[in-house]
This record gives sequence, structure tokens and C-alpha cells, in this order.
Amino acid sequence: MSGVDASPEMLEQAKKRIQNKAVLKLHDLREPLNFIEDGSFDLVASSLVMHYLDELEPVFKEFNRVLKPQGSLLFSIQHPVIDFIYRPSDDYYRVEVISWDWNGFTAEPVKVHTYRRPLQDYTEALYNSGFFVERLTEPKPTEKFKEQAPESYANSLKNPAFMVIKAFKHMGLCS
Ligand SMILES: C[S@@+](CC[C@H](N)C(=O)[O-])C[C@H]1O[C@@H](n2cnc3c(N)ncnc32)[C@H](O)[C@@H]1O
Repeated sequence: MSGVDASPEMLEQAKKRIQNKAVLKLHDLREPLNFIEDGSFDLVASSLVMHYLDELEPVFKEFNRVLKPQGSLLFSIQHPVIDFIYRPSDDYYRVEVISWDWNGFTAEPVKVHTYRRPLQDYTEALYNSGFFVERLTEPKPTEKFKEQAPESYANSLKNPAFMVIKAFKHMGLCS
């Protein structure tokens, strides 16, 4: 198993959680995964990263390249609709940078910047990168989350926070 992230601090967090179960590497996904051979992996999993990237296709194409022919891609994103609800815009179809205060790890909130884009930008980029979408889900919060954060739980039951997409590799249509 291998994992990448562009943040040394996040890699440290990951190391604490998974110990030696995976090789972790500092890497910016806007650069090619040159250290991984073609057709090496059964699964590429990406949790809440793709909406931080200005361009999707180069990254999806790299994911496709490193997957075996029967391989799958599983990734989650901040739900495009909730981005649109919380940060209203006059143009759903325009790709825009939106800023959020994140206080998950620190006492003082940290500004994070993500890209809001229409949902079809993800599905079209997947198709152009050699993937067919197999499933697209909008998960609701778990019972465990209810115990930990009852208010957020109630809100997340009615407002989609995340979207999860599973896609599999198709042959020959990669543009
Ligand atoms: C919301 S956090 C998700 C972290 C982790 N994947 C998880 O699910 O807990 C977003 C992550 O995307 C990483 N990230 C943002 N832009 C990146 C890039 N260009 N290349 C690699 N990682 C990036 C950040 O460093 C951060 O760790």
C-alpha cells in the first residue's frame, strides 16, 4: 500500500494512524506520479482531496495510468451542491475558489481554499481520463458522529456534506 499527500503535517498524522501499513510519500498531485509504474495498483482511494485541485484531468489520468486494467478509483469530495448553498454564486458552471475556516486540529481556525465546480466537471473529467462512473453516493452521517457532534449530525442529515464516487477503468477512450 502507498499513500501521498502534499502536506508533511498531514503525512505525520497519517503515519501515527497507520504505522507501517503503507509507504507514505510527500507529493503534490499536480505533478505526475513518476515514481509509480503503469498498472501497479488494484485501487486508488482519495479522500476529500480532489476539490483542492485546480485541474482534475491530469490527476485522474495519472490515477488511470497507475491502475491495473481491472482497477477502480474511489474518491470523496466536498459536495458541489453544498458548496453552492453555503457560498452562493451567480454562476453554477464557473469554477471558483472558495475559502473556509477549518478548526479541526487547531484552536485558531485555519483558512483553507477549495475549488467549487459543477458536478459534471468531475464526471466529464473521469470519462475523458478513461473511467466509467459505477456509483455516485451522498453519504449521511453515522451514529458514531451523532454521539460526537449532535448538532452537526442533525444538519448533515438534511444537507449533503460529501459525495463519494466509484469509477472503473475503461479501455481505449482516454483522450
Ligand atoms: C480535507 S484534507 C483530507 C485529508 C485525508 N485525505 C483525509 O481524508 O482525512 C485535504 C488534503 O488534501 C491535501 N492536498 C491538497 N492539495 C494537494 C495536492 N495538490 N497534492 C496532494 N495533496 C493535496 C492536503 O494536504 C490535505 O491533507
